Amino acid sequence: MDVIDWSNLSFGYMKTDYNVRCHYRDGKWSDPELETSEYINLHMAATCLHYGQEVFEGLKAFRGKDGKIRIFRMRENALRLQSSCRGIMMAELPVERFEEMVLLAVKKNERFVPPYQSGASLYIRPLLIGTSAQVGVKPAKEYTFLIFVTPVGPYFKEGFKPTPMVIMREYDRAAPLGTGTYKVGGNYAASLRSGEKAHEMGYSAVLYLDAREKKYIDECGPANFFGIRDNTYITPKSESILPSITNKSLMQLAEEIGMKVERRPVLEEELATFEEAGACGTAAVISPILRIDDLSENRSYHFSKDGKAGPICEKLYHKLRAIQYGDEPDKYGWVTVVE
Ligand code: PLP
Ligand code: COI
Repeated sequence: MDVIDWSNLSFGYMKTDYNVRCHYRDGKWSDPELETSEYINLHMAATCLHYGQEVFEGLKAFRGKDGKIRIFRMRENALRLQSSCRGIMMAELPVERFEEMVLLAVKKNERFVPPYQSGASLYIRPLLIGTSAQVGVKPAKEYTFLIFVTPVGPYFKEGFKPTPMVIMREYDRAAPLGTGTYKVGGNYAASLRSGEKAHEMGYSAVLYLDAREKKYIDECGPANFFGIRDNTYITPKSESILPSITNKSLMQLAEEIGMKVERRPVLEEELATFEEAGACGTAAVISPILRIDDLSENRSYHFSKDGKAGPICEKLYHKLRAIQYGDEPDKYGWVTVVE
């Protein structure tokens, strides 16, 4: 194996030794199998290819100072995967099976878990797809679930340095009563055009407004949004955003450090009152926001005067990382130590 430059990893794909798979046929999930091929042999009429029957997850494993590997909140990801499956009529994977396969995928690829203090982690990507042939628009009868892992660095190349984001009112990511709360591929397909346009203009991500009224903040392309004002952590409640496990954790940590927490509709105008703002997610961790430009309205909101992350973002970031790497006690039972 080539030597991996752990400290300079980006958020990308790297081949590891094994992936883990199981299949749903005749109403039953098969036992997990280890696989070394990176490819899937798929029927050309599979529903995942034509009708987007595809859901995925994202979680991470971290190596601590003690050399142990810790997986963050995997049960939450198992439950969200089930919710996404219900959302687009796919066979649900039992929580215990999800957990067993995550552990297997991590253990079998242990040498790819980045060392403590490299700043990197092992990204775990579960994927569930409809595999049986169907030409009418109907759910598949057969499914494949697989998990691959890959070592990753920061999602935004700037890491913890604040970056500019953009509101582009001519694009929506998810419809009000659509699939925004599920982690389905179609939502990401819908964000590609706007995302690429934003990158070309120098923004790290798009911040979407609610599609119904274009009045409220929804979320970023790959992460939830939060703002800080008067010792309060404020984050949108919306019918079209993904329930982020990182955000849920940060709300709890914010309370722990004596902040108030508000999860409610957030008007775009409120951005002008926030002292700090950030994007949060498994890949994004906390990515502080420098500035948000609302292009068609010719408005900008600034959150950092000196180009540095604000004190609350900084505090929450370190607290979350400390739990994930095992530097602080896991008092909420968020961490599974790989034995
Ligand atoms: N929102 C979107 C659209 C995402 O893709 C993600 C990433 O998973 C998140 C939010 C953050 O969710 P989590 O913190 O569970 O990773
Ligand atoms: C994650 O944070 O796990 C995500 O899925 C975000 C993005 C890579 C799609």
